[in-house]
Amino acid sequence: MTKVVINGCKGRMGQMLIECAKRNPRLQVVGAVDLGDDLASVVDSCDTVIDFSFHDSAPAVAALCVKKKKALVIGTTGHSAEEKDRILSAISAIPIVWASNYSTGVNTLFWLTRKAAEILGTSFDLEVVEMHHRLKKDAPSGTAATLAEILAEVRESQIEEVIRHGRHGIVGERTEAEIGMHSLRGGDVVGDHTVVFAANGERVELTHKAASRETFANGALRAAEWVTAKPPGLYDMQDVLGLR
Ligand SMILES: NC(=O)c1ccc[n+]([C@@H]2O[C@H](COP(=O)([O-])OP(=O)(O)OC[C@H]3O[C@@H](n4cnc5c(N)ncnc54)[C@H](O)[C@@H]3O)[C@@H](O)[C@H]2O)c1
Repeated sequence: MTKVVINGCKGRMGQMLIECAKRNPRLQVVGAVDLGDDLASVVDSCDTVIDFSFHDSAPAVAALCVKKKKALVIGTTGHSAEEKDRILSAISAIPIVWASNYSTGVNTLFWLTRKAAEILGTSFDLEVVEMHHRLKKDAPSGTAATLAEILAEVRESQIEEVIRHGRHGIVGERTEAEIGMHSLRGGDVVGDHTVVFAANGERVELTHKAASRETFANGALRAAEWVTAKPPGLYDMQDVLGLR
């Protein structure tokens, strides 16, 4: 039985994690906290902390997990470079699963995106389009950022040099190297992602659409079970699903 604590329990994902954990006999939620609560007071009895709160809380959550020797599943997205560095300083001490998206379908999309980019080559222009509900605070989504990073890796380019966020005005012709990134916001869309590979005369589009947060919650709970027995280090959902 894996014992978990959920940070951000009153949020959309927090509520779904609690709901899904009730249906999983291998998991027990031993603590659930939100803004203003004391996470440190509930972690002693758990194996793994699952954090779906806000990006700025992740470094402190990671530091607490190091102090208490607990595994960590990070669900938040939108971390600054400084926050990322502070989180990464914990991986020599504890196992962390850190994934921009915990859905099995999206992780399949990550795998397919890499394959398609390798097969199609540099004559195809690359664009990523994402859409989320109107309440989402960060843009582009962490998943869209991961998709762009995969594309940049295959092209052996530095993401910050090739990423092009939206287009407006007289922007000139598209370069071969750039990776377009476009964020749509509206309604209650849980999360749509499309990778467009466009060449002269043909176009390939890979799309994933999430209709419920259940897929993210079940993936994060699966990661929480998996990571408990792992040595210190950084893992993602590709590791959890055995896709590497
Ligand atoms: N990785 C994934 O698969 C995945 C999927 C969905 C959402 N997300 C990310 O998860 C995060 C939460 O998403 P959401 O839709 O549930 O948001 P939400 O706004 O509905 O919920 C966030 C909750 O965290 C709480 N919170 C804020 N700061 C906190 C702190 N310092 N300590 C404890 N609790 C705090 C808020 O009060 C709120 O209840 C976002 O970063 C989102 O992008 C990731």
